[in-house]
Amino acid sequence: MDSEFHKIRRLPPYVFEEVNRLKAKARAAGEDIIDFGMGNPDMPTPKHIIDKLIETARDPRANRYSASRGIAGLRKALAGYYARRFGVKLDPDKEVISTLGSKEGFANLAQAITAPGDVILVPNPAYPIHAYGFIMAGAVIRHVPSGSPEEFLRRIDQSARHSVPAPSAVVVSYPSNPTAQTVELDFYKEVVAFARKWGMWVLSDVAYSELYFDGKPPPSILQVEGARELAIEFGSLSKTYAMPGWRVGYAVGNARLVGALARIKSYLDYGAFTPIQVAATAALNGPQDCVADIRNIYKSRRDVLVDSLARAGWNIPSPPATMFAWAPLPEAFREMGSLAFSKLLLEKAGVAVSPGIGFGEYGDGHVRFALVENEQRTRQAGRAIKKFLASEAPAPAQKPSLVRA
Ligand SMILES: Cc1ncc(COP(=O)(O)O)c(C=O)c1O
Repeated sequence: MDSEFHKIRRLPPYVFEEVNRLKAKARAAGEDIIDFGMGNPDMPTPKHIIDKLIETARDPRANRYSASRGIAGLRKALAGYYARRFGVKLDPDKEVISTLGSKEGFANLAQAITAPGDVILVPNPAYPIHAYGFIMAGAVIRHVPSGSPEEFLRRIDQSARHSVPAPSAVVVSYPSNPTAQTVELDFYKEVVAFARKWGMWVLSDVAYSELYFDGKPPPSILQVEGARELAIEFGSLSKTYAMPGWRVGYAVGNARLVGALARIKSYLDYGAFTPIQVAATAALNGPQDCVADIRNIYKSRRDVLVDSLARAGWNIPSPPATMFAWAPLPEAFREMGSLAFSKLLLEKAGVAVSPGIGFGEYGDGHVRFALVENEQRTRQAGRAIKKFLASEAPAPAQKPSLVRA
């Protein structure tokens, strides 16, 4: 009775909680914290989407249980989006399902397809649910270093060869949270060939597919010939339309995987509130200039952040996509690790970031900035960081002398 539950023991407290606690304490003491911590979009949801929600909520039939796999109109709208955006034709009845945010869909698919001890290949660093969704389902995770897409491809092959039993699925997620890296279609071709060779499923997460800044829209794995024989792709309206709290996501692709998720969800939920699903349909079918506006806001914030940090003497790569910047720890702080550095930055500069270690052990040399503060606040953070870096840099470690005194 007293020992911790088996599953809870496998879910360590979020590393981010440590920084959050300090943040709350500083705020309670009246400090102004500039918060780049959580990837929680701060922009308003476009008006026409909210109007549709309100209009539908007034319909007395809208309060009934909805459809667990999503109303037909929403599934059709998702198929329409895939046809327009990726040139991929999907059957809205068999190859499309809507979810309560993509995170819920991912975790429940993991439940649906995992037998105890199944081995899953998961990138590291990664969005935590990619590993923990499968850990909660009883899988064994093989963490694959994903410092770059090339490294990931090299390492999945090695990992597959050394796993007993052979892995049953591999997770890919580009544009990446937290690294902001992107891939081209050739990457997915290799992943599909790899998965086919090993008889593995592929779970692709493209939550940031519409937040790209270099003019080149990120591809979908389903654009690869034959991908739907083994791949499912998760996406989300959270970032694309600034609707994170609405909880609307989706999964598309392999009919067997979609069917397995539908089965498990039919036991668990009745789908999102119908007005939310109708408004999500309006988002997908309606004017898309709001998506360009949201993208442009993140792009401007990205430019201001990268420029402000450079002025502070901290040069970081400019992220080509997502709403994150993945910043290597400044040289003088590299030894202390990302958690200690994040705490110090909060305490001394009043700036909150996410420690890279929260995304996995291979993320420890970095911190993540979420682009959720406006340009003025971002510049203000840059000035505070400049002061902090100038005054706090630890003295360089004394090199041990080779000559004995
Ligand atoms: C890679 C990735 N996938 C999924 C999600 C969750 O999206 P949703 O709001 O659709 O659950 C996030 C949110 O931060 C994410 O970074």
